[in-house]
Amino acid sequence: MRIHLYLAAVALAAALSAPAADADDAGKAAYERLCASCHGADGKGNSAMAEAFGGANLEIANQQVAGKKDEELKKIIADGKGRMPAAGKSLSPADQQAVVAYMRSLAQ
Ligand code: HEC
Repeated sequence: MRIHLYLAAVALAAALSAPAADADDAGKAAYERLCASCHGADGKGNSAMAEAFGGANLEIANQQVAGKKDEELKKIIADGKGRMPAAGKSLSPADQQAVVAYMRSLAQ
């Protein structure tokens, strides 16, 4: 009896912790697919792209970006900004949120 309760608790703990890991993975995968070409895998900016954009600062792994509200960052992702393409059609709202979380993790 006791061992069954223990196994049930372990299974529950695994089930509860799974979604967070999935969100991290989804954010990283979406960032690498849609953002890294310009902003760099590490968020420091792809220098060749920065040059192609006329010396634009493509670094997003910084406190200036991390200091923006979730809503603001999701709007930039969904609608684009200046010459940055919109990704709203490629990413679900949940994936946009996951990308925001991933960008914040790059700024740490
Ligand atoms: C084709 C290149 C390109 C891609 C792909 C791209 N961006 Fe950008 N991004 C830019 C440019 C250029 C700017 C500067 C826009 C401006 O201010 O004119 C920018 C700006 C930003 C900013 C605002 C920075 C600030 O200081 O205001 C954020 C945040 C950002 N991008 C995140 C993302 C994310 C997340 C993705 C992927 C979903 C992405 N970008 C994909 C080119 C790109």
